[in-house]
Amino acid sequence: MRAALECQAAGACNALTPAVLPRFGRCDSIATMKKTIYLTTEADTQTLGRELAQSASRGDVIALAGDLGTGKTTLAQAIAEGLGVREAVTSPTFTILAEYDSGRIPFYHFDVYRVHDPDELFEIGFAEYLEGDGLCVVEWADLVEDLLPPGALRVRLEMGAGESERICVIG
Ligand SMILES: Nc1ncnc2c1ncn2[C@@H]1O[C@H](COP(=O)(O)OP(=O)(O)OP(=O)(O)O)[C@@H](O)[C@H]1O
Ligand SMILES: [Mg+2]
Repeated sequence: MRAALECQAAGACNALTPAVLPRFGRCDSIATMKKTIYLTTEADTQTLGRELAQSASRGDVIALAGDLGTGKTTLAQAIAEGLGVREAVTSPTFTILAEYDSGRIPFYHFDVYRVHDPDELFEIGFAEYLEGDGLCVVEWADLVEDLLPPGALRVRLEMGAGESERICVIG
């Protein structure tokens, strides 16, 4: 469980992975120390999101990667729901950041797809949010890999077999 160990070493992410993985574990590859989860339906993705939220603590960062339409926003919405966020959560594609304070801890939802210059992130205080008092979820996190803290929980979504299966790689 490389992600969990990294998280502990970095003092972030707490027990995000141990809490979530036992329920979803199906295909744990010891060779790569990554966890692959098959999300057969959208409901599976939503369950994963709610589980992640339950384990999340202030200062945690979840870095979401994956192509268009793989379910990053769907997962982020379920994370928000799991935190108890009451507002409707939409993808902050044009605003980069949306903040929600109605949940158990603050929820900071980033979508960096349209960020062309790292200065744009500097201007909104990206680094401060990452070290802040809430849970940060970053869509298209692979585009800003250099800016992510080492303790960020990496979650990659890929298209699976059929229309509603997604393959989720954690770690
Ligand atoms: N297992 C699944 N998990 C998540 N979404 C699914 C699943 N099966 C089907 N879907 C559908 O796939 C779409 C995922 O869209 P979503 O906006 O969450 O993706 P995204 O990765 O955020 O895309 P983008 O990069 O364009 O922001 C939704 O229409 C959702 O209903
Ligand atoms: Mg999205």
